[in-house]
Amino acid sequence: MNRVQIVEVGPRDGLQNEKKILSTEDKLNFIAELQEAGCTQIEVASFVNPKLVPTMADASEVVRGVLCPPAPSNCPPTPSNGGDDIDFWCLVPNERGYARAQEAGARFIAVFAAASESFSQKNIGRSIESSLEEYHKVVSQALSDGCRVRGYVSCVTHCHYEGKINPEAVLFVAEKLFEMGCEEVSLGETLGCATPDDISTLLNGLKSLPCEKLAGHFHDTSGRALQNVETALSFGLRTFDSSAAGLGGCPFAPGAAGNVATESLVRFLHERGFETGIDAEKIAFVGARIAGVLRGRAEV
Ligand code: HMG
Ligand code: MG
Repeated sequence: MNRVQIVEVGPRDGLQNEKKILSTEDKLNFIAELQEAGCTQIEVASFVNPKLVPTMADASEVVRGVLCPPAPSNCPPTPSNGGDDIDFWCLVPNERGYARAQEAGARFIAVFAAASESFSQKNIGRSIESSLEEYHKVVSQALSDGCRVRGYVSCVTHCHYEGKINPEAVLFVAEKLFEMGCEEVSLGETLGCATPDDISTLLNGLKSLPCEKLAGHFHDTSGRALQNVETALSFGLRTFDSSAAGLGGCPFAPGAAGNVATESLVRFLHERGFETGIDAEKIAFVGARIAGVLRGRAEV
């Protein structure tokens, strides 16, 4: 199969750790431009504690805005459903977050666990076991409400607090996420320091899982994310998360840089004969523009 699915996480992972908090309107413009460039899977918000992650405080407004964009004239807003051809994903850390997401109308939910006990505690204030119990409740409810659910495992190769992570720890969490009903598990290389050998070791350890239901979520601190994508492609993975302009980082993983840049990933994949459905020139323009908005440069 020559198709690779890109999940654009710029509006969530890309913006969550930025010093500058974009207005809801700027976020909605960014998301509209991503759609215009051909992105069909977009992670738009995160229903976490706004005191801890203030950049995501307007998650409800963002979700309402993408589902029901303001009408251009005097017509009443038309719900676009966010589902006909675009899936708008939201991060949900607990039942409280799920209730907020539901109230805003979200239909695509992502829960996020970790393979490192220390990171789990720092990130969501729970042990891995306790987070999986909470996610079991969230995912059951979300599925019975007709939502689609994705799962993340963070720290799949390294953890800022614990160093190297054993693939068995990743396998354990990924299996639990599949068992509770996640349709896909995204493998978060949170620190962005893995080598292709680390990714090979990881994916050899996950061979019992269906590769078509795994995604690569590679941060790019060491500049090796594209090599890691190449390695993951050789193991059969066909879904990758990325962020326009390579924005991103986790407030609870100090030193980690952004995700692999969508514009670089698209170019890289097209050069290798893969289709992504994303226009390489348009996404490069979107990346340059959002970087300009964040860094205060003149807009492109
Ligand atoms: P907590 O503080 O442990 O929860 O939050 P709590 O139950 O002790 O409650 C404390 C306060 O938070 C209470 O309010 C709750 O109501 C409130 P107060 O009484 O103090 O006014 N609260 C909430 N408010 C809004 N929405 C909620 C919510 N839950 C509780 N959902 C929680 C637990 C997980 C919410 C918190 O620790 C948190 O928000 N953590 C932030 C986690 C985060 O956003 N991390 C970054 C995203 S993950 C990531 O980037 C990795 C990824 O990209 C993959 C990779 O790269 O590896 C996905
Ligand atoms: Mg991330």
